[in-house]
Amino acid sequence: LPDGSHVQCFFERSCPLLKVCTPTHVYIPPRGSSHPRILFYGESPGGEEDDGNSPFVGRSGRLLRSVVEEVVGPDYMDHVTFSNTVRCFPHEQSSYGKKYGRTPTDEEILECSYYTTQEIETLNPDIIMPLGNVAVRALLGEGLPGITRLRGRQLTLRQNEKEYLTIPSLHPSYIVRGGGKDRAQLVADVKQAWEIATGTGVRRVTYTITDPDELCALVDTWIADYKAGILPWFVWDLETAAEKKGGGLRPDDPTFFIIGASVARSGTEGYFIPTQHPDLPDTVDSIALRSHLLRLYTTVPTVMQNAKFDVKCTREFWGVEPAALVHDTMLSSY
Ligand code: URA
Repeated sequence: LPDGSHVQCFFERSCPLLKVCTPTHVYIPPRGSSHPRILFYGESPGGEEDDGNSPFVGRSGRLLRSVVEEVVGPDYMDHVTFSNTVRCFPHEQSSYGKKYGRTPTDEEILECSYYTTQEIETLNPDIIMPLGNVAVRALLGEGLPGITRLRGRQLTLRQNEKEYLTIPSLHPSYIVRGGGKDRAQLVADVKQAWEIATGTGVRRVTYTITDPDELCALVDTWIADYKAGILPWFVWDLETAAEKKGGGLRPDDPTFFIIGASVARSGTEGYFIPTQHPDLPDTVDSIALRSHLLRLYTTVPTVMQNAKFDVKCTREFWGVEPAALVHDTMLSSY
């Protein structure tokens, strides 16, 4: 096998599920370590992966491997594993036999998730890195922000009562298409994952607060620290959704609603305050949560990711204005 890989191949050449996928159904197994520090998930193999029977051996694969080698070292295949959320090459075939790659369908992704679940359980990776929107959706579900906003964040994948730290990043083919200008972002994300997996990185945690008394105490402390000059600002990010796909970014969508807000005062610890989460049990007093949250928002200056959007939402839906805007990280990225 190329790369001197150790991973067990679940099914050698053809997929036994064979229900909805491409006409050839050639299963391309994961390659790399059998207990990886990082398990990378791409979208699906391309023509070169199909020929080589290994994930990420084509053009974008070479870019990904060069990044991983740069961060992990030349023996990277002993420490990481490459896989895909769809394991055969989704393609159309022309009348003279040429294969054209295409995006996998939702059905194919769903069908192949059988392997993903098994693979994650068997390989038991320290960290999972989905690359690009398709892999993020396949692993973590719908409703998350797009990859350019999500990359580098520390998320949790829950499966069979286990939790896996998951750090999404850009797909290498997106970087190749952009002429390589975003390569440094992939390097930074792989570096973050590698440092956490090897014990030198910073693991950020997010707590969900559903107890109004707990939130009241936190808000009191932050406001007191602000008044004492210890806390100049806090970071604020609204989480929104709508019934319709994409509607969560459009406050004028009739089904739009605010799920809650994420707040933080340091880079290692964040809090999510749900104010209208569809999964919240009836016992959670979201009105009390919202009033404590807004006490913070209207007293302590904030740093935001996209102030125009958040300020519009809080003004129109909750009738409040932020105490002051210190910095909008979106503007600095422009
Ligand atoms: N793109 C992917 O998503 N996976 C591969 O294996 C190759 C290219």
